[in-house]
Amino acid sequence: MNLQQDLEKVLITHEEIVEISKRMGKEIERDYREKNPLLIGLLKGCIPFIAELMLHIDTHVELDFMDVSSYYGGTKSTDSVRVLKDLGSSVKGRDVLIIEDIVDSGKTIQLVKEMLSSRGATTVGVATLLDKPSGRKVELEPEYIGTVIPDGFVVGYGLDYEENYRNLDCIGILKKEIYTKRDGE
Ligand code: IMP
Ligand code: MG
Repeated sequence: MNLQQDLEKVLITHEEIVEISKRMGKEIERDYREKNPLLIGLLKGCIPFIAELMLHIDTHVELDFMDVSSYYGGTKSTDSVRVLKDLGSSVKGRDVLIIEDIVDSGKTIQLVKEMLSSRGATTVGVATLLDKPSGRKVELEPEYIGTVIPDGFVVGYGLDYEENYRNLDCIGILKKEIYTKRDGE
């Protein structure tokens, strides 16, 4: 039994993710040179992406993490965001760049952006590996987008279904029977 067997199909291979990360890293490097930005990864989904992305930013950056939740483990977005784990550093006067695995409704990012601005960040940008614009509920356009994906629930490379599949090295669509089976339990 391996994890990839649970996928309906692979959408983005590991090699493609590395290429996307290189391209985004160079864009961020160009825009944030001399700014010493604070990269803020949203746990836990950001982990493989931020790890790859930062290797392609050849200028000074600092790193911090936050854990917020809007999903509570299911497949439908809810309206509120809870801070489960806060930053260790101050964002006051900093150029911050939120690193996210996927922007769907955009609500999570919007609330985190507002929070960081109210704490005094100078600028708050967003870099996301995946963008699912079909799910958007608020007006939000990430500054850096890896790739746009169609509607549908995806897992892998940090993205989970009930905390599983984060360790898949590619991104794919989960077979429907996997989550209907689990939701029905
Ligand atoms: P938003 O607030 O609806 O934009 O939700 C963003 C968060 O929802 C992401 O950080 C993910 O944790 C989760 N999410 C949204 N779509 C998916 C998906 O297709 N697979 C796994 N997680 C998802
Ligand atoms: Mg997430």
